Amino acid sequence: MSLTGFFLMSFLIVHLTVNLLLIFDDTGVLFNQAAHFMVSNPIIKVVEPVLAIGFILHMIYAGILTINNMVARPVGYKKVNQKQASTWASRNMFVLGSLIVIFLILHIMNFYWKLKVEQSVALIMVDGAEMHDTYTLVSSLFKASLIYNLFYIAGAIFLGIHLTHGFWSAFQTIGWSGNIWRKRIEVVGKVFAFLIALGFSIIPLYFIIKF
Ligand code: HEM
Repeated sequence: MSLTGFFLMSFLIVHLTVNLLLIFDDTGVLFNQAAHFMVSNPIIKVVEPVLAIGFILHMIYAGILTINNMVARPVGYKKVNQKQASTWASRNMFVLGSLIVIFLILHIMNFYWKLKVEQSVALIMVDGAEMHDTYTLVSSLFKASLIYNLFYIAGAIFLGIHLTHGFWSAFQTIGWSGNIWRKRIEVVGKVFAFLIALGFSIIPLYFIIKF
């Protein structure tokens, strides 16, 4: 869980960085060039199937861990002040993860499917290079539907809450913890989770406010 989690967190940083270009250039040139770079880059071509395997392994391990926890303790603990012993996020990682999977299925259908499977996205020329008009694909969805904007904000918030626990938990599993470091990593994790949730929410928010 920990290793796949680290890998997915690195993906999120790259994905968010590219996506933020959506709000820095309304002509779409910057975002289209970055998206084109990502799909034509040989390293990314190798990383993409690894990413899919990473997601699948992360989900399988999450299922196994949750079932093992339930089997190990069929009669629940007497619950006295759970807030002191653990955070809400840590007790609801599977639920949060499942909500993120629902988000991801719709998200893949919105963009990836149209680009890669249906191949229904228009091709344009930018500075002599032919590429998909990914900007129009993404921006039309965000301009057209408030529901989708809210759906993406909800996805970002679930992801942020999932990461408040996932980040430090990943470090703890690989053994980088201890009394002093645990507190530090928890703080860094909360900042990371907040920035990811904020970054991914800013994009639909920008389209709600501006268009
Ligand atoms: C404002 C928010 C987001 C936007 C605008 C966005 C945009 C996109 C686009 C355009 C693609 C297709 C890329 C291509 O194949 O050329 C994509 C793919 C993908 N997105 Fe997102 N995304 C957002 C949020 C997220 C979040 C929060 C996650 C993770 C929970 C995520 C995970 C993925 C995955 C796994 C893929 C498929 C792999 C890939 O093509 O890179 N995205 N996204």
